[in-house]
Amino acid sequence: MKKREIVIAGNWKMNKTPFEARVLAEAVRERCENAACKVVICVPFVDLFQAKEGLLGSSKIALGAQNVHWAPSGAFTGEISAEMLLSCGTEYVVIGHSERRQYFGETDESVNRRTLAALQAGLKPIVCVGETEREREEGLTESVIARQVKAALTDVDEAALENLIFAYEPVWAIGTGKTATSEQAEEVCRYLRDLVKELYSDAAADALTIQYGGSMNAKNAAELLSMPDIDGGLIGGASLKPDDFAVIVNAGSEKAARL
Ligand code: 13P
Repeated sequence: MKKREIVIAGNWKMNKTPFEARVLAEAVRERCENAACKVVICVPFVDLFQAKEGLLGSSKIALGAQNVHWAPSGAFTGEISAEMLLSCGTEYVVIGHSERRQYFGETDESVNRRTLAALQAGLKPIVCVGETEREREEGLTESVIARQVKAALTDVDEAALENLIFAYEPVWAIGTGKTATSEQAEEVCRYLRDLVKELYSDAAADALTIQYGGSMNAKNAAELLSMPDIDGGLIGGASLKPDDFAVIVNAGSEKAARL
């Protein structure tokens, strides 16, 4: 069973043209090439080639996408296949981000289908789960996480789990500047790990990388990453600012060195 990995991933969302992506990827490489943790940049589809160029064959910084379809090819206008992503040098793919669930009809079932297809093709899914503000207020956080995690993992076997990352992203903390406290984030990440322990094994749960996402920034990253069940971050806004992103990556490196 593999060792748990610390992974700091930038989710650029719908930002940057291909030219800008190359410049930003170069800036990330310059600052993060010596990281002791894994670093990923998840870019828009049209930016994949240029971002890859900007990374200049870096062995530390991997390329990610922000969605993948479950079919290998066919009449699915506007979608993209795992093979297409792989052919651009993509290693990771964000699946089930709350913005996709909220605005684009992504469901627990489609998240599962995309996850299975990604794993089968050899892409590493970063599966996002998280409760809304209302669900938290109503005391539903754990049941929402349990539903989303179990659905995402349907038919995923234990060996494949080694290549999957979960990102806990409370919807109320995304892009709002309202970060979950490190205790709130830790509580849910630990709950998620316990769930995986129940569904699979102690070893699988122990090796699982669980990221926190939601207004993670240069100021709060070290504190969040000091928690035992937070193994990385999925960073939105701050991933577009190379200096800030590098500070978060440094916090990730420090955590990796402590493992
Ligand atoms: P922000 O860091 O901008 O809050 O976004 C978090 C996120 O959604 C990452 O996927």
